[in-house]
Amino acid sequence: MSERTLVLVKPDGVSRGLVGEVIARIERKGLKLAALELRTADRAVAEEHYAEHAGKGFYNDLVEFITGGPLVAIVVEGTRAISAFRQLAGGTDPVEKATPGTIRGDFGLEVQFNLVHGSDSPESADREIKIWFPNL
Ligand code: CMP
Repeated sequence: MSERTLVLVKPDGVSRGLVGEVIARIERKGLKLAALELRTADRAVAEEHYAEHAGKGFYNDLVEFITGGPLVAIVVEGTRAISAFRQLAGGTDPVEKATPGTIRGDFGLEVQFNLVHGSDSPESADREIKIWFPNL
């Protein structure tokens, strides 16, 4: 069954020139791009996106980081797109959890600078797509 997921190439991924690499992996997997935008997130969008992390120790740094430069927001579509992209991304910690062959495992070192975000459930995907692409 086709579904949609919200992917972000975070500011570290953009500044390191990894946008093409991430998109290539999404496309090679067989997933489709349904919407894509380069933008700098304002605080309201970042806080809404990361609402579940409000109050955590890393929350303020995370919001600063995600609003600190341009990112690429993408709606990715396809069969089991949510799990498929999370598999491509690898675990949240690029060293301890993500394995080589994944985006984070191949290119990341630090949890905060883990290059990409992918929705973790159909409910999150719906919520996040509405935040980033309200007109979709
Ligand atoms: P993401 O998948 O975008 O979802 C929440 C983000 O918070 C996560 O990726 C990391 O970038 C960040 N994060 C999670 N845990 C930590 C942590 N312990 N320290 C700093 N950042 C974190």
